[in-house]
Amino acid sequence: MSEAKRLAGEKAIEYVEEGMIVGVGTGSTVGYFIDALGRIRDRIAGAVSSSEQSSERLRSHGIEVVDLNAIGPLPLYVDGADECDPQKRLIKGGGAALTREKIIAEASTRFVCIIDPAKRVRVLGRFPLPVEVIPMARSLVARAILAATGGQPVWREGVVTDNGNWILDIHGLSITDPMVVERELNQIPGVVAVGLFARRPADVVIVGGEPPQIL
Ligand code: A5P
Repeated sequence: MSEAKRLAGEKAIEYVEEGMIVGVGTGSTVGYFIDALGRIRDRIAGAVSSSEQSSERLRSHGIEVVDLNAIGPLPLYVDGADECDPQKRLIKGGGAALTREKIIAEASTRFVCIIDPAKRVRVLGRFPLPVEVIPMARSLVARAILAATGGQPVWREGVVTDNGNWILDIHGLSITDPMVVERELNQIPGVVAVGLFARRPADVVIVGGEPPQIL
Protein backbone atom coordinates (compact mmCIF):
# COMPACT_ATOMS: atom_id res chain seq x y z
CA MET A 1 0.00 0.00 0.00
CA SER A 2 2.87 2.38 0.64
CA GLU A 3 3.88 1.96 -3.02
CA ALA A 4 0.42 3.18 -4.07
CA LYS A 5 0.77 6.11 -1.68
CA ARG A 6 4.16 6.99 -3.14
CA LEU A 7 2.82 6.88 -6.70
CA ALA A 8 -0.11 9.15 -5.76
CA GLY A 9 2.12 11.58 -3.88
CA GLU A 10 4.62 11.86 -6.71
CA LYS A 11 1.90 12.27 -9.36
CA ALA A 12 0.54 15.33 -7.52
CA ILE A 13 3.74 17.20 -8.32
CA GLU A 14 2.35 17.67 -11.84
CA TYR A 15 -0.18 20.14 -10.39
CA VAL A 16 2.53 22.36 -8.89
CA GLU A 17 3.37 25.43 -10.97
CA GLU A 18 6.38 27.73 -11.02
CA GLY A 19 6.50 30.22 -8.13
CA MET A 20 3.50 28.76 -6.27
CA ILE A 21 2.89 28.73 -2.54
CA VAL A 22 1.52 25.22 -2.08
CA GLY A 23 -0.96 24.12 0.58
CA VAL A 24 0.26 20.88 2.16
CA GLY A 25 -1.80 18.37 4.14
CA THR A 26 -0.79 15.71 6.63
CA GLY A 27 -0.19 11.95 6.64
CA SER A 28 1.93 9.24 5.10
CA THR A 29 0.76 9.83 1.50
CA VAL A 30 1.49 13.54 1.82
CA GLY A 31 4.92 12.58 3.17
CA TYR A 32 5.78 11.28 -0.32
CA PHE A 33 4.43 14.49 -1.86
CA ILE A 34 6.59 16.60 0.47
CA ASP A 35 9.67 14.58 -0.43
CA ALA A 36 8.94 15.12 -4.14
CA LEU A 37 8.33 18.82 -3.46
CA GLY A 38 11.75 18.94 -1.83
CA ARG A 39 13.30 17.88 -5.12
CA ILE A 40 11.80 20.96 -6.87
CA ARG A 41 12.05 23.36 -3.93
CA ASP A 42 13.82 26.01 -6.02
CA ARG A 43 10.77 26.24 -8.26
CA ILE A 44 8.21 27.05 -5.52
CA ALA A 45 7.84 30.09 -3.26
CA GLY A 46 6.97 28.13 -0.12
CA ALA A 47 4.24 26.10 1.53
CA VAL A 48 1.33 26.54 3.94
CA SER A 49 1.26 23.55 6.26
CA SER A 50 -1.65 21.81 7.99
CA SER A 51 0.34 20.37 10.90
CA GLU A 52 3.51 20.60 12.97
CA GLN A 53 4.47 17.19 11.54
CA SER A 54 4.28 18.42 7.94
CA SER A 55 5.98 21.74 8.79
CA GLU A 56 8.93 19.83 10.20
CA ARG A 57 9.22 17.66 7.10
CA LEU A 58 8.89 20.67 4.77
CA ARG A 59 11.62 22.55 6.64
CA SER A 60 13.87 19.49 6.55
CA HIS A 61 13.80 19.85 2.76
CA GLY A 62 14.60 23.58 2.96
CA ILE A 63 11.05 24.62 2.03
CA GLU A 64 9.84 27.80 3.73
CA VAL A 65 6.62 27.39 5.73
CA VAL A 66 4.41 30.45 5.26
CA ASP A 67 1.62 31.75 7.57
CA LEU A 68 -1.78 31.53 5.86
CA ASN A 69 -2.63 35.00 7.23
CA ALA A 70 0.24 36.50 5.27
CA ILE A 71 -1.15 35.49 1.90
CA GLY A 72 -4.42 35.50 -0.08
CA PRO A 73 -6.16 32.47 -1.58
CA LEU A 74 -3.93 29.50 -2.33
CA PRO A 75 -3.86 28.09 -5.87
CA LEU A 76 -3.31 24.49 -4.79
CA TYR A 77 -3.83 22.23 -1.79
CA VAL A 78 -2.55 18.65 -1.78
CA ASP A 79 -3.71 16.28 0.95
CA GLY A 80 -4.59 12.66 1.65
CA ALA A 81 -7.82 11.23 3.01
CA ASP A 82 -9.12 8.33 5.06
CA GLU A 83 -12.12 7.71 2.79
CA CYS A 84 -13.29 9.09 -0.54
CA ASP A 85 -16.72 8.58 -2.14
CA PRO A 86 -17.63 8.82 -5.87
CA GLN A 87 -18.51 12.54 -5.48
CA LYS A 88 -14.99 13.20 -4.11
CA ARG A 89 -16.39 13.85 -0.65
CA LEU A 90 -13.99 12.78 2.06
CA ILE A 91 -13.47 11.63 5.61
CA LYS A 92 -10.27 13.08 7.02
CA GLY A 93 -8.66 13.45 10.41
CA GLY A 94 -7.14 10.04 11.03
CA GLY A 95 -3.96 11.97 11.78
CA ALA A 96 -5.86 14.47 13.99
CA ALA A 97 -5.01 17.41 11.68
CA LEU A 98 -8.54 17.92 10.32
CA THR A 99 -9.15 21.50 11.48
CA ARG A 100 -6.10 23.03 9.82
CA GLU A 101 -6.68 20.79 6.80
CA LYS A 102 -10.20 22.13 6.49
CA ILE A 103 -9.01 25.72 6.76
CA ILE A 104 -6.43 25.26 4.02
CA ALA A 105 -8.88 23.37 1.77
CA GLU A 106 -11.31 26.27 2.15
CA ALA A 107 -8.58 28.79 1.29
CA SER A 108 -7.57 26.91 -1.86
CA THR A 109 -8.79 27.20 -5.42
CA ARG A 110 -7.88 23.60 -6.26
CA PHE A 111 -7.83 20.68 -3.83
CA VAL A 112 -5.95 17.64 -5.12
CA CYS A 113 -6.53 14.59 -2.92
CA ILE A 114 -4.00 11.76 -3.03
CA ILE A 115 -5.09 8.30 -1.91
CA ASP A 116 -4.33 4.61 -2.22
CA PRO A 117 -7.12 2.45 -3.72
CA ALA A 118 -8.25 1.13 -0.31
CA LYS A 119 -9.60 4.60 0.56
CA ARG A 120 -12.33 4.46 -2.10
CA VAL A 121 -15.81 3.70 -0.77
CA ARG A 122 -19.35 3.91 -2.09
CA VAL A 123 -20.72 5.39 1.15
CA LEU A 124 -18.62 7.24 3.72
CA GLY A 125 -18.55 6.06 7.32
CA ARG A 126 -16.75 2.74 7.60
CA PHE A 127 -13.75 4.77 8.79
CA PRO A 128 -14.73 6.31 12.16
CA LEU A 129 -15.53 10.00 11.57
CA PRO A 130 -13.12 12.26 13.52
CA VAL A 131 -14.45 15.37 15.24
CA GLU A 132 -12.15 17.88 16.96
CA VAL A 133 -13.68 19.17 20.21
CA ILE A 134 -12.86 21.71 22.90
CA PRO A 135 -11.76 19.54 25.87
CA MET A 136 -14.36 20.85 28.37
CA ALA A 137 -17.16 20.02 25.91
CA ARG A 138 -16.10 16.41 25.23
CA SER A 139 -18.93 14.59 26.97
CA LEU A 140 -21.56 17.19 26.00
CA VAL A 141 -20.55 16.80 22.35
CA ALA A 142 -20.46 13.02 22.63
CA ARG A 143 -24.05 12.94 23.91
CA ALA A 144 -25.19 15.31 21.16
CA ILE A 145 -23.46 13.21 18.49
CA LEU A 146 -25.20 10.07 19.71
CA ALA A 147 -28.57 11.82 19.68
CA ALA A 148 -28.06 13.40 16.25
CA THR A 149 -26.51 10.49 14.35
CA GLY A 150 -26.96 7.27 16.34
CA GLY A 151 -23.23 6.76 15.86
CA GLN A 152 -20.98 5.80 18.76
CA PRO A 153 -18.46 8.54 19.67
CA VAL A 154 -15.18 7.23 21.10
CA TRP A 155 -12.66 9.56 22.73
CA ARG A 156 -9.19 9.19 21.14
CA GLU A 157 -7.57 9.24 24.57
CA GLY A 158 -4.08 10.63 24.87
CA VAL A 159 -4.24 12.52 21.56
CA VAL A 160 -4.01 16.32 21.73
CA THR A 161 -4.32 18.19 18.44
CA ASP A 162 -1.92 20.91 17.29
CA ASN A 163 -4.64 23.34 18.45
CA GLY A 164 -4.68 21.90 22.00
CA ASN A 165 -8.01 20.09 21.54
CA TRP A 166 -9.27 16.50 21.66
CA ILE A 167 -10.70 14.08 19.11
CA LEU A 168 -13.90 12.03 19.18
CA ASP A 169 -14.17 9.28 16.53
CA ILE A 170 -17.74 8.40 15.55
CA HIS A 171 -18.15 4.68 14.87
CA GLY A 172 -21.01 2.90 13.14
CA LEU A 173 -22.10 5.55 10.64
CA SER A 174 -23.30 5.09 7.09
CA ILE A 175 -23.24 8.64 5.77
CA THR A 176 -25.69 8.77 2.88
CA ASP A 177 -26.05 12.57 3.06
CA PRO A 178 -22.63 13.96 4.05
CA MET A 179 -23.69 17.62 3.64
CA VAL A 180 -26.45 17.23 6.22
CA VAL A 181 -24.25 15.36 8.71
CA GLU A 182 -21.45 17.91 8.32
CA ARG A 183 -23.84 20.80 8.90
CA GLU A 184 -25.59 19.19 11.89
CA LEU A 185 -22.39 18.24 13.69
CA ASN A 186 -20.86 21.66 13.03
CA GLN A 187 -23.72 23.24 14.96
CA ILE A 188 -22.98 21.49 18.27
CA PRO A 189 -21.31 23.95 20.67
CA GLY A 190 -17.82 22.69 21.49
CA VAL A 191 -17.23 21.18 18.04
CA VAL A 192 -14.20 22.80 16.43
CA ALA A 193 -14.29 20.92 13.12
CA VAL A 194 -15.82 17.78 11.62
CA GLY A 195 -13.66 15.51 9.48
CA LEU A 196 -16.28 15.40 6.72
CA PHE A 197 -15.30 17.27 3.57
CA ALA A 198 -18.66 17.45 1.77
CA ARG A 199 -19.33 21.19 1.51
CA ARG A 200 -15.76 21.55 0.25
CA PRO A 201 -14.91 18.22 -1.44
CA ALA A 202 -11.76 17.49 -3.43
CA ASP A 203 -11.58 18.84 -6.98
CA VAL A 204 -9.23 16.15 -8.25
CA VAL A 205 -8.50 12.73 -6.73
CA ILE A 206 -5.34 10.83 -7.60
CA VAL A 207 -5.57 7.11 -6.83
CA GLY A 208 -2.08 5.66 -6.55
CA GLY A 209 -1.29 2.78 -8.90
CA GLU A 210 0.65 1.90 -12.02
CA PRO A 211 -0.39 4.15 -13.69
CA PRO A 212 -2.10 6.47 -11.19
CA GLN A 213 -5.81 7.05 -11.83
CA ILE A 214 -7.21 10.58 -11.97
CA LEU A 215 -10.83 11.08 -10.84
C1 A5P B 1 -4.79 13.68 8.70
O1 A5P B 1 -5.51 14.23 9.74
C2 A5P B 1 -5.69 12.95 7.75
O2 A5P B 1 -6.72 13.74 7.28
C3 A5P B 1 -4.89 12.36 6.62
O3 A5P B 1 -5.06 13.11 5.46
C4 A5P B 1 -5.34 10.98 6.40
O4 A5P B 1 -5.33 10.31 7.64
C5 A5P B 1 -4.51 10.23 5.36
O5 A5P B 1 -3.47 9.58 5.92
P1 A5P B 1 -2.49 8.62 5.13
O6 A5P B 1 -2.03 9.35 3.92
O7 A5P B 1 -1.39 8.39 6.13
O8 A5P B 1 -3.23 7.37 4.80
